[in-house]
Amino acid sequence: MRLLGLSGIVSLAFVVCFSLAPAQDAATPAAGEKALGTQPYDQYASPDECQDCHVDIFQQWNQAMMSMCYTHHWDEIEYFNLAVPHAEVDEKVAGVKAGCNGCHAPLAFLAGDIPPPRPAEMSRANESVSCDICHTIAGFEGDTPYNFNFISTPGEAKFGPKADPASADHEVKKVEFLATAEFCGTCHNEKSPYGAWVKATHLEWKEGPYAKEGVTCQTCHMPRALGVCADGVEEEWVPQHLFHGAHDKGKLAGSVEMRMHPTESTSRPGAKVVVNIQLFNAKAGHKIPTGSVEDRIMWLHVTAKDASGKTYHLPVDKKGFDGEEYTIAADTYAYQDMGIPMGNAEFEGVQRDGVPVGDRIFRMAYFDPQGRMTIMQWNTASFGADYRIGPRETKLETFTWEVPADIAAGEVTFEAVLNYQKLVQPVAEFLGVPEEEAEVVVINTAETSVEIRK
Ligand code: HEC
Ligand code: HEC
Ligand code: HEC
Ligand code: HEC
Ligand code: HEC
Repeated sequence: MRLLGLSGIVSLAFVVCFSLAPAQDAATPAAGEKALGTQPYDQYASPDECQDCHVDIFQQWNQAMMSMCYTHHWDEIEYFNLAVPHAEVDEKVAGVKAGCNGCHAPLAFLAGDIPPPRPAEMSRANESVSCDICHTIAGFEGDTPYNFNFISTPGEAKFGPKADPASADHEVKKVEFLATAEFCGTCHNEKSPYGAWVKATHLEWKEGPYAKEGVTCQTCHMPRALGVCADGVEEEWVPQHLFHGAHDKGKLAGSVEMRMHPTESTSRPGAKVVVNIQLFNAKAGHKIPTGSVEDRIMWLHVTAKDASGKTYHLPVDKKGFDGEEYTIAADTYAYQDMGIPMGNAEFEGVQRDGVPVGDRIFRMAYFDPQGRMTIMQWNTASFGADYRIGPRETKLETFTWEVPADIAAGEVTFEAVLNYQKLVQPVAEFLGVPEEEAEVVVINTAETSVEIRK
């Protein structure tokens, strides 16, 4: 174990120095792109070393996506099959060959090991966003946290917002920055080479109601519980390292609440029935979907079932805003720019949505420089309408249905299902991404009924 030593003392002095005179200090380590190749791997302790004492925290982290940022199947596919080959043929996006790793494999980025060895080669890139990466971040450069502009100061001292040096078996330093949303924002905001905010979870949070109330990312993703610390002290408030997000069905479930009602309780064949649906983002501190918005969709599927058991699909009523066509499922092609890294300029693309035509999709379309919809967020130059549900926002949808002339008399039951998918199915299929990434997760359901009289 390498917890004490000269390098530690030197870097601790360095950190103290930095905190006295942040941005101006000539000794401030480089952040963001400039940090490439500035810190050899051996500057950072591996999570295995922390595991010896921080038993629970290690197991929590090990279950979270944070420990798989580099090794997760879809990350490997997108980086090696799309991003790297694209960076090699298009000067404008050349920087992503290194840049993706600034957030996904920070150890490899800081060591200048680009591209990092494939996950199967078991290099230290696989440590992903490790304990020692987060617990040696001193602050960030500039005004806005984004594109891994965190300042990494590895050494023997581990940073934490509490830092009770008396009880720790190693040096600790009180760095309140770790308890802020900006800390998370250094990786959860991303600007593309075209200047588009392709990830803005922290910026969405900052504009929303939770920032004003002091409810941070940590409040919801690292909830504090009375627990046991590494020194065996019980009943301490320990931040649980859950980092649960879209890969956790339970986190998604119920995050949007939904109710529905018809305008009238009775109707007749040939008449029109209007059902109204309210969708309330009750749980997330940012928009839903957030983060990898280029990949994610949430969609509303509504059906009617008559007294004889016959089922009808209801398309959503159009609202008429600009760019609405991207928010209503259609039988159309997109993602043609995947042809660039594949060396096929004529690539016709794949199905855009892969969900029932006419369903409402809550999403924001990303467009490449040619105006085609893309899932390659680094190739994004502009956006379509932002039709996601903001924190504590409620969206209303209506579905107008013409009651069939030959319908059976009796009760018609309407069912609404709000679904979520991490990666649109046709893209997952085309790129051979394992099915779990395109798994359909039900966020909520609602039901109502109308009596049909003849
Ligand atoms: C993504 C960044 C991140 C990673 C990765 C991470 N932590 Fe943390 N850790 C934090 C933050 C942020 C806090 C403080 C949260 C708060 O106070 O709200 C924290 C708090 C802690 C604390 C203080 C607990 C207390 O009692 O106050 C310990 C100990 C700790 N982490 C150990 C670890 C270990 C060990 C690992 C790896 C297995 C790890 N962390 C991985 C961000 C991280
Ligand atoms: C030999 C045991 C041991 C090892 C190994 C160890 N720690 Fe700790 N650490 C402790 C003890 C004891 C405390 C104080 C009690 C607590 O907070 O759990 C502590 C406290 C901390 C804190 C809390 C600072 C705060 O805000 O209160 C952080 C952060 C931390 N350790 C990170 C790490 C990281 C990262 C590693 C691996 C690089 C690591 N520790 C390895 C024993 C250890
Ligand atoms: C009020 C609680 C709350 C706060 C505050 C909050 N989140 Fe979330 N977050 C959630 C919930 C609930 C979900 C699951 C629904 C979803 O995916 O949006 C979620 C999902 C996520 C996801 C996964 C999104 C996806 O589609 O992959 C990420 C990443 C995330 N949050 C990061 C953050 C960051 C970073 C912050 C701070 C800037 C933050 N969250 C603040 C509640 C919160
Ligand atoms: C060093 C960069 C970095 C920092 C700092 C960081 N994250 Fe992350 N985080 C990532 C990456 C990269 C992923 C994507 C994992 C993957 O490949 O799917 C991620 C994933 C997540 C997820 C899971 C999303 C999902 O799809 O399930 C949540 C939740 C999350 N982070 C919350 C936080 C919070 C809260 C903080 C601050 C306490 C934070 N992160 C700080 C890089 C970071
Ligand atoms: C500024 C930090 C940052 C950079 C740079 C970055 N990512 Fe990410 N990436 C994240 C975060 C944070 C998430 C998780 C967001 C979420 O869950 O909503 C993520 C999610 C992903 C996902 C989705 C993972 C999943 O399982 O759903 C893939 C794939 C991915 N990134 C690949 C890349 C590639 C390829 C590049 C380079 C072109 C890249 N990323 C650049 C921070 C970054």
